[in-house]
Amino acid sequence: MNKIERLESLRKESLLGGGEVRIASQHKKGKLTARERIHFLLDEGSFHELGAFVKSRTDDFGMENEKFLGDGVITGYGTVNGRLIYVFSQDFTVYGGSLSETFAEKIVKLMELAMKNGAPLIGLNDSGGARIQEGVVSVGGYADIFYRNVRASGVITQISAIMGPCAGGAVYSPAITDFIMMVQNTSYMFVTGPNVVKTVTHEEVTSEELGGAMTHASKSGVTHFQCSDEIECINNIKRLLSYIPQNCEDTPTSLAYDAANESRPALNNIIPENPNQPYDMKDVINGTLDADTFLEVHKDYAENIVVGFGRIVGRSIGIVANQPAYLAGVLDNNSSMKAARFVRFCDCFNIPILCFEDVPGFLPGTDQEWNGIIKNGAKLLYAFSEATVPRITVITRKAYGGAYDVMNSKHIGCDLNFAWPTAEIAVMGASGAAEIIFKKEIQTAADPAAKLAEKIAEYQEQFANPYRAAERGFIDEVIKPEETRERLIAGFKMLENKVDSMPRKKHGNIPL
Ligand code: HXC
Repeated sequence: MNKIERLESLRKESLLGGGEVRIASQHKKGKLTARERIHFLLDEGSFHELGAFVKSRTDDFGMENEKFLGDGVITGYGTVNGRLIYVFSQDFTVYGGSLSETFAEKIVKLMELAMKNGAPLIGLNDSGGARIQEGVVSVGGYADIFYRNVRASGVITQISAIMGPCAGGAVYSPAITDFIMMVQNTSYMFVTGPNVVKTVTHEEVTSEELGGAMTHASKSGVTHFQCSDEIECINNIKRLLSYIPQNCEDTPTSLAYDAANESRPALNNIIPENPNQPYDMKDVINGTLDADTFLEVHKDYAENIVVGFGRIVGRSIGIVANQPAYLAGVLDNNSSMKAARFVRFCDCFNIPILCFEDVPGFLPGTDQEWNGIIKNGAKLLYAFSEATVPRITVITRKAYGGAYDVMNSKHIGCDLNFAWPTAEIAVMGASGAAEIIFKKEIQTAADPAAKLAEKIAEYQEQFANPYRAAERGFIDEVIKPEETRERLIAGFKMLENKVDSMPRKKHGNIPL
């Protein structure tokens, strides 16, 4: 065999990972191989592999006879829609994708390249966890990755796709990254699996129930997206990337857009006559953004707040909106944390924020108080207050009490605050307010019910509108719903060169 032939033979061997039989077994489970995933993610022919010949250094437990080129993870760089990204793809056909010392070194090398060159890092996870035969060097390897995940946080976007097992301490690398996607039925994430759970708490639970895609999308909020299969997951990664700049010094992508008539009369008909009747805030979002550009994040979690990416005349923006169709759009523990994390992501990566507001306040109750609505609500307040990106709020209906302050009000740094004529900006709803401030008058009235109704109407007339706030300048303009899109186009254009920064500090101390 001459030298070129030797190289070719090694390359061929490396492409096969753990071999044909294990590849077939992977396919039988309905999963793609690590290489197939890279193939579908990257632009054709753009992948450049690094470290294809890396081998395990461990000879214990008979491993000297079972060495695989690449050692269970494929690492390299390429492009997605022409933009540079770095990717690692864990290869389940090699020791179940388990993480060895050299496996970790390959990922670390990639992370450092991604940070120095300012491009997103995508991790495709499918692994049995620490390489059991290697012991502490494997566990140390995880920590080397976690450390770099944290260093990279806010510098480059990090996206994790979970396409198989992800258990034990292995979950903490994805957990630190910006977005997690999970594939239904073939992926799961948990710190301790069903067997340990059974031993410790006597609960009987399947892997899917404990840590499947649906569980993490709806109950824990660990995953931001759940996908029906791997191809949908890969397409979602590409779509998500399209809204995000390469790094924290870069500006988000802007697509060409031919502006025409941007008036949207359909928005005039969304708010119901009865202020207590729900409506779907997604109609407002979709009716305002460029057509078909809304990518919802955390769709099945804390549905009383809606977050996601979209475009206004081609510009990428982040949207945070109360959802009156779910729990009346109230702010609670989960929705506050969900929105806070999203706001902070947008701010890290220079993505302007648009807020649609219809919020009756914070959810009362022992469950909320005991689970920390004080500190969790404060997270959202903190996140908006520290965000220096362009920020616009549109109040569609209720903006009551502390929730008015928290939801990107001008007082906490919002640049432009619009209100629809249906807006009610007040300390609280009219009936609650009337009951408190006219309590004696109502009690002593000949007809208390009639008196209460009269006082509610009086309060409503005086305060349940946007004009008191507009008189103070808290609202910049009261606009017709149909004008919203035009105002946002002009507003975000006006703010495109906004310069703002936080006072010099090491870092703030968000109430975690
Ligand atoms: C070495 C492993 C491995 C591991 C799987 N394999 N996990 N080798 N270290 N952690 C190997 C198997 O021996 C097998 O090798 C191949 O991968 C496929 O595994 P199967 O069991 O046949 O596959 P499947 O039935 O799909 O089950 C997958 C699995 C199971 C659920 C992941 O393999 C499993 O439970 N593995 C152990 C998980 C675990 O306990 N990991 C350590 C957690 S502690 P062959 O040669 O037959 O193909 C941890 C600490 C991290 O991760 C700390 C970080 C801070």
